[in-house]
Amino acid sequence: MARFAKGTKRGMRVLDAGAGRSPYRKLFKHAQYEAADFAQLDSANPPLDYLCDITDIPVPDGHFDRVICNQVLEHVPEPEKAIAELHRVLKPGGRIFLSAPLFFAEHQKPYDFFRYTQFALRKMFEDAGFEIARMNWLEGYFGTVAYNYQMMAKNLPASVDELRGRGLRWKLAYIAPIVLLNRKLAVRLSRLYSRLEISGGRFERGMPKNYVVVARKPATDAPPASKQPVEENATKTTAQTSGQTTGQTRAELEAEVARLRAETIRTRQSVCDPLADLPLPSEVHTVLDDVRAEHLTYLKPENLQVLARQVLDADLQDRPGLIIETGAALGGSAIVMAAAKDPKRPMKVYDVFGMIPEPSERDGEDVHNRYRKIVSGTSKGIGGETYYGYRDNLYDEVSDSFVRHGIDPAQHNVELVQGLFQDTLKIDEPVAFAHLDGDWYESTMICLERIAPHLVVGGRIVLDDYFHYSGCRDAVDEYFEDRPGFRLERRTKLHAVRVAGS
Ligand SMILES: C[S@@+](CC[C@H](N)C(=O)[O-])C[C@H]1O[C@@H](n2cnc3c(N)ncnc32)[C@H](O)[C@@H]1O
Repeated sequence: MARFAKGTKRGMRVLDAGAGRSPYRKLFKHAQYEAADFAQLDSANPPLDYLCDITDIPVPDGHFDRVICNQVLEHVPEPEKAIAELHRVLKPGGRIFLSAPLFFAEHQKPYDFFRYTQFALRKMFEDAGFEIARMNWLEGYFGTVAYNYQMMAKNLPASVDELRGRGLRWKLAYIAPIVLLNRKLAVRLSRLYSRLEISGGRFERGMPKNYVVVARKPATDAPPASKQPVEENATKTTAQTSGQTTGQTRAELEAEVARLRAETIRTRQSVCDPLADLPLPSEVHTVLDDVRAEHLTYLKPENLQVLARQVLDADLQDRPGLIIETGAALGGSAIVMAAAKDPKRPMKVYDVFGMIPEPSERDGEDVHNRYRKIVSGTSKGIGGETYYGYRDNLYDEVSDSFVRHGIDPAQHNVELVQGLFQDTLKIDEPVAFAHLDGDWYESTMICLERIAPHLVVGGRIVLDDYFHYSGCRDAVDEYFEDRPGFRLERRTKLHAVRVAGS
């Protein structure tokens, strides 16, 4: 929640749906925080801005930039209606943070109706028209175990008299010591697991107590599939075709959605590179083929060509400034960019040149799954070779690769800068072109914050992972939201171009 609040810009209008005593009001001091609650439970306390059910909030469509809804959904008898309403009150492009329990005792009775699996949450959000940015465990399994022990301590009989009331008669002598000892142990173990949860980090096995969903209302607000007039298991008959989709089965609609998705991907890939006709020198083609043959890059040839043409174009247009790559791994894309540039133009290549840094809470499950695979030691490198993060001296390997492909960094004005972007990336000069390939949320955000303000007009940033990793996409969306002076172009990769007049 604190991170969601941090990502909420000054002055944004935030709704706390089911605010109770508004415990998060202070996190949103910089924004226009408003609280809504139906005030039927003992946890609800004024001041409330809206005394209402969250399935019917008295504001116009698109009123809020952000919505938070924490531990409320289990108390709503019609959760789908609530989510649809929260979608309605959000602006297109707006975001919601919602947490809901999977494993928690009945509480605030009788207003306690549901528990939620991740699949139920996903379905409800997607049916309402949201795009899920991430879905996480709110706490790890140590937290769930601590809670179990807490329940055990609270609910097991506390004395021999209490046990006697259960009619155990002669068995009492055996059972009482076990139960009473168990209860005492439960108190201690609950504290121990709570501490482990805090100090030992999240342990994702078994089940969480709560899930967190961060989702966005798409900027262009197409009606969700579920709001189309679909008839489950219906067959198409002429009598039913009053609307365009009336009578279509869900399977047919899903097939149609899959077809449109594939078509969108093809269209994006076919959107021609404005520099597609710019011929690359044959040496650049040679370097490109060689680094691919040597398995030095994850990028496809067409994407390497885009990078090379952009670098060449900066020279041809006399666009001043640095060439930058953040995230080099084995150096392949950086070598191609360096081969395409005028040797006099400075270029900086940033990387830890080692194991990729850990992703953060801001990254989604896709990223965390990928990272878990990497740290498990079972990642395969390109072409089945040793994964770059497991190599002993990647910095030297990359320097040698530059030289081997005819680009001695010292003679070509290329600097390889080793370390975390957070520590090393300090730009105080114009930038002509940057290739951002750091995969995760924080790596992308830090690079945008430090590079984009220095981009010259006509200069361009290519964001390698926007269509691939959730964290990168979120960082880019957040950074460019309401930020004038840039045009985003959805090509095979996402491009951000600095435009004139900003
Ligand atoms: C996908 S790889 C780069 C691929 C490369 N451009 C190519 O041609 O194959 C991502 C790289 O970003 C680096 N990286 C990610 N986050 C970083 C950070 N915060 N600081 C430094 N390096 C980072 C990783 O260590 C990794 O080498």
